[in-house]
Amino acid sequence: MPEPVLETRDLTIRFGGHVAVDAVSCAFHSGTLTAIVGPNGAGKTTYFNLMSGQLTATSGTVLLGGQDVTGLGAAGRTARGIGRAFQITSLFPNLSVIENVRLAVQARQRQAASLFTRWSSHADWIDQAQAYLDEVNLGAVRDTMAAALPHGDKRKLEVAIMMAMEPEVFMFDEPTAGMSVDEVPVILDLIHRLKARGDKTILLVEHKMDVVRSLADRIIVLHNGKLVADGEPAEVIASAVVQEAYLGQAPKAPAAGAAHV
Ligand SMILES: Nc1ncnc2c1ncn2[C@@H]1O[C@H](COP(=O)(O)OP(=O)(O)O)[C@@H](O)[C@H]1O
Ligand SMILES: [Mg+2]
Repeated sequence: MPEPVLETRDLTIRFGGHVAVDAVSCAFHSGTLTAIVGPNGAGKTTYFNLMSGQLTATSGTVLLGGQDVTGLGAAGRTARGIGRAFQITSLFPNLSVIENVRLAVQARQRQAASLFTRWSSHADWIDQAQAYLDEVNLGAVRDTMAAALPHGDKRKLEVAIMMAMEPEVFMFDEPTAGMSVDEVPVILDLIHRLKARGDKTILLVEHKMDVVRSLADRIIVLHNGKLVADGEPAEVIASAVVQEAYLGQAPKAPAAGAAHV
């Protein structure tokens, strides 16, 4: 196995007496889409926050490309290749849709700039921004002010901004939540295409088991902050732990067979 792109070791966070993420050790590799499932309150979003730097661990370690980034904040981790979708705060509400993406393109190039980099022109940045917008079906509203977009379009814009940063790790926390039925396929198709590039590390929190089944190479299950299952999608979905966790919102019965993870 090559070195993981992202890894957590005994990662733990306590809120008062409550352990929201409890000694989670897990490694994520390039070219793999891992779905993170578990009931509400299991610690999925908190685990994301600990990896992207929105929260600081009580104990344990986060490694990015083999380097300990546990002490780095969110900005430092973004600069090292963590892309987190749906931080509404990353939008500039009073700038147009395309200007929002252009700033991300420009910021990434500035980061990558060296003595030998040819500085791109403003027109190049706009062309690249347009391409990212087209990928999320927002090309037609490029001149609209970000603040004026409907909720679903704002989320698509956030994905375009994340893509423009060209991160190594893409984190999607319930990407289709709050989206209308005609917007959901746009986002899922985009995640499909990202995965098809084959060189990105994608983490996806998703409740809809049909989505998980169609996208995931691997599923990990969190329950009460603990990692309780990790494996091939078919096995994990069939496992007792998932059937139990999703009681009431249970997935359609998978193929019969021994279920162990
Ligand atoms: N900032 C916080 N302060 C206190 N408790 C929190 C905080 N964030 C999350 N929690 C608690 O941690 C647990 C895990 O929450 P969360 O990670 O949002 O779960 P999930 O995303 O799996 O639904 C929940 O019990 C939640 O109430
Ligand atoms: Mg959550």
